Amino acid sequence: MAVKFPEGFLWGGATAANQLEGAYQEGGKGLNLADVLPGGRENRLKLLSDTGFDFEMDKSKYTYPNHEGIDFYHRYKEDIALFAEMGFKTFRLSIAWSRIFPNGDETEPNEEGLAFYDRVFDELHKHGIEPLVTIAHYETPLHLIKEYGGWKNHKLIKFFERYVTVIFKRYKGKVKYWLTFNEINGATHFPLFGLGFSATSEETRLQECFQGLHHQFVASAIAVNLGHKIIPESKIGCMLIYAPTYSYDCNPENVMHAVEEGRLFNFFCGDVQVRGEYPTFIKRFFKEHDIEIDMHEGDLETIKEGTVDFISFSYYMSRTEKKEKTPEEIGEGNLIGGVKNPFLKASDWGWEIDPTGLRIALNELYDRYQKPLMVVENGLGAYDKVEEDGSINDDYRIDYLSDHIKAMGEAVEDGVNLIGYTSWGCIDLVSASTGEYSKRYGFIYVDKYDDGSGTLERSRKKSFYWYKDVISSNGENL
Ligand code: BG6
Repeated sequence: MAVKFPEGFLWGGATAANQLEGAYQEGGKGLNLADVLPGGRENRLKLLSDTGFDFEMDKSKYTYPNHEGIDFYHRYKEDIALFAEMGFKTFRLSIAWSRIFPNGDETEPNEEGLAFYDRVFDELHKHGIEPLVTIAHYETPLHLIKEYGGWKNHKLIKFFERYVTVIFKRYKGKVKYWLTFNEINGATHFPLFGLGFSATSEETRLQECFQGLHHQFVASAIAVNLGHKIIPESKIGCMLIYAPTYSYDCNPENVMHAVEEGRLFNFFCGDVQVRGEYPTFIKRFFKEHDIEIDMHEGDLETIKEGTVDFISFSYYMSRTEKKEKTPEEIGEGNLIGGVKNPFLKASDWGWEIDPTGLRIALNELYDRYQKPLMVVENGLGAYDKVEEDGSINDDYRIDYLSDHIKAMGEAVEDGVNLIGYTSWGCIDLVSASTGEYSKRYGFIYVDKYDDGSGTLERSRKKSFYWYKDVISSNGENL
C-alpha cells in the first residue's frame, strides 16, 4: 500500500550546534561540555560509561573535533541553500547556550551570540524553512558544570530560566517550534551528555541522575509556560530517545522484565512532561533503589502547569530484554542495553536496524498520550566512499530511510497524528557518541576526516536527490 502523509507535513533534517557549528571560541562563545569531549570512538565511549570525569582538555593527548565541527558558523548560508534545494520545510538546530550566556550564570546575554542565530533564522525564513529549535542539546556551559556540578544543582533552573526568557523574547516571530531538553530520558544511561556531570560513583549514579532529571523537569515546565506567554503561537515539545522494548521470548519473567525496563526508559520522562505528574510505577523503583528526590515547594505545581504541546523523539533502534543475560548475549554498540535480537541486522557501529520498531514506537506513544508526534532524529551512521568521479552512492542510506519512512506511513494509516520528520545529521557532522567524522549520516557530504584533514567542501550524495524527491512527492516516492 502506498503511504500517505498529511498535507503540510514537516519534512526536514536535524542537527545540534556543538556537532556542526565549530567556531568554538568565536563571537564571545564560552566553552561548553562538547568542547572538552575528546574525539575517537574508544575515548568517548569510555568517558560515557566512566564516573568522575574532570572536564579538562588535554590537547597533547586528544583531538577535539567539536571545536571545528563542519564550520556551519561561517558556512550556514551555503548549507541552508542546500537544504532548500532538497525542499526542506523545517530544519532542526540547537542554540548553544554558551553563545548566549558564555558562562551560563551571567545576568546579561552576549549580543554577538544572539545576532548569530538571528542571521541563521533569517536565512532559513528567506528560503521558506521553519526553524525547529532545541534549547539544550548536550551543550551545558562548562562553567555551570565545573562550578555548580551541572544539573545536580538546583541553581541551574534559574540560569536556564534566564536563558530561555532571553531567547524567547529575541526570537519571537522567528521561531514557533521549540524542544526543551534533547533525549531527556537518556540521562540515566549517559548523564554526562544531558545532565552535564559524570556520576560521582556507581553507587550514587541513580540518585544523582534522578535528582538532575527532576531539576530538568521543573526547568522544562518553566520554559513551556514562559514560551506560551512570550510567544502565544509557539508549540513546545519534549524530546525523548525512544526504543521499543521487546521481550527476548515469551517467558513471562522476561516479558515482565521488558515491560519494567521499557516503561522506565521510554515512559517515565514522557509521563512527567506530557501528563504533568510523576507516574505511579516510579515510586516502587525509587523505594527499591533508595532514591529520594529533593523537591522544592511548588515544583510539582510547576510541572503540572508546564506540560508540552507535542512529543518529539529520536529513533535509531529497538531494545530486546531478557532477565538474565550473559556478557556474550549483550548487543555490541547498543548504548541503551539489552541483548542481541536474532531477527535484526546492525549498522557498522552495532546499532540494530528495525524499521518496524518505529511504527511500534509511534503507536505506543500515541496510544499513551494522544498528542501530536514528531520524529526529530532517525538515520544511518555509515562509512561513505567518494568515487573517482566525485559521486557518493549511498544506496544503503536510501534503503534505511525509505524503510523507516514507510513504517511511519503505516503508523499514520494506523491513526497516529504524526506532524513531521527530520532525519538526523542531514549534513555530515561530528558524531556525538564517538566524536568521529567518519560516522556519516548526511545527504550532504563534507570533506573532513578524523585526522583533522579535509577542505570542508560540501557535495551532494545520491541520497540528496532521493530525499528531494521524497519531499516533493510528500512521501509517495520512496
Ligand atoms: C542522538 C543525539 O542520540 O543520536 C545526537 O541526539 C547524535 O546528538 C545522534 O548525534 C546520533 O548518534 P551518534 O553517536 O551516531 O552521533
